[in-house]
Amino acid sequence: MTRELIQRMGNETAPVIIGSGILSSIAQHIRRANGGKNPLKILIVLDEAVATTWASVVEQSLKNDAATGAEISQVSILATEPNKSAHSWSKVMDAAVRADLDRQGMIIAVGGGIVTDIAGFCAATYLRGIAWVAVPTTLLGMVDAAIGGKTGMNLPLAEALGEIHWGKNLAGAFWPPSAVVADTQALTTLSPRNFRAGLAECLKHSMLVDASIEPLLASALAIYTSSEPVDQWKMIDLIARSAAVKLDIVAADPPEANQRMLLNLGHTFAHAIESQFSSELLHGEAVALGLVAAAAASAASGRMTASGAASVRDRVAALGFQVKLPQSATVETLEKAAGFDKKRVEGSLTLILPKTGGGADIVRKADPELLRVGLRAIGAVDSV
Ligand SMILES: NC(=O)c1ccc[n+]([C@@H]2O[C@H](COP(=O)([O-])OP(=O)(O)OC[C@H]3O[C@@H](n4cnc5c(N)ncnc54)[C@H](O)[C@@H]3O)[C@@H](O)[C@H]2O)c1
Repeated sequence: MTRELIQRMGNETAPVIIGSGILSSIAQHIRRANGGKNPLKILIVLDEAVATTWASVVEQSLKNDAATGAEISQVSILATEPNKSAHSWSKVMDAAVRADLDRQGMIIAVGGGIVTDIAGFCAATYLRGIAWVAVPTTLLGMVDAAIGGKTGMNLPLAEALGEIHWGKNLAGAFWPPSAVVADTQALTTLSPRNFRAGLAECLKHSMLVDASIEPLLASALAIYTSSEPVDQWKMIDLIARSAAVKLDIVAADPPEANQRMLLNLGHTFAHAIESQFSSELLHGEAVALGLVAAAAASAASGRMTASGAASVRDRVAALGFQVKLPQSATVETLEKAAGFDKKRVEGSLTLILPKTGGGADIVRKADPELLRVGLRAIGAVDSV
């Protein structure tokens, strides 16, 4: 049970293999990703949450494959946003040095988006760049974070009352993995909340390009929140369709000069929301709120009807997401947080605004009032 897509970034191509039960034969994918040769040294960067499950399957698979013969080391990361930090980067770098990884060595990242982002950034920066393979173990990782070659980590922006506010992904590199191996079996240990979070990115892909994805979301959620056995073909289909949207957009614009910005639909809002509510909301949950806010801003700009924006809100709610901020926040605070957003180019704001009937516009130098309208739609209040 396998589907294979191709990631194209400039002249570089890499297979994206989506299947069920494929981690037990990962050695063959690693060899292929390494130009047909076995890497001599491998550092597995793993998410603590999958240490005894999927990372262990990967390790055993490599050890059982006599042809691999690689020296295998491991380093684990507790996957939290504050941990997607220079501290974790340094921990992985230390492990790479201790494992004596050379330029022919390889990093294999096993985990959700936090781990694939930081492990990929380590691969990009260790010895000025070594090969890596992504083994995403969350839905969000399979359809988004592990796709498209962006790697990175958060940087602290400011400390208030002993609490650090993080600037999302402020350090990073475009450094695509040599292969992405997504095993839907890994999703069987994911919490329903984290599974749902991945559906927000699938919905984004549906709104942007492929409306056939959306009908698959409710049934995927029903399967994961009930005790029904998971239909692996349905899961593979959902992941493949959603990943394909991102792969096509990335292939057309790898450096995010233009069209790739579409993938930021909902994200300018989401990053501002996350900077205030990082402990209350998962990334995917912030993206879901961001989609509602972006739709409201679109309606205010005439790109979407008011009923179209209301329909986006209702569809987001139907997937079980909150459509209001978890606590009160002022428009001003969130707007300021959006000001730290990397998508604000030369002091002006770029918003991705969805259109009735599908697709979205990249609106450069957007009127900041549209940002405020979106924030009010999800419950932010004006300061008195
Ligand atoms: N590079 C990109 O293009 C890109 C795109 C989208 C998101 N991201 C980043 O991805 C991150 C979010 O990724 P995520 O949603 O995968 O979250 P995550 O990495 O935080 O994982 C979610 C939770 O699930 C746990 N987990 C992971 N796999 C599991 C499994 N199979 N079974 C049980 N528990 C498991 C993790 O330990 C964590 O607690 C954010 O930091 C975001 O910025 C990057």
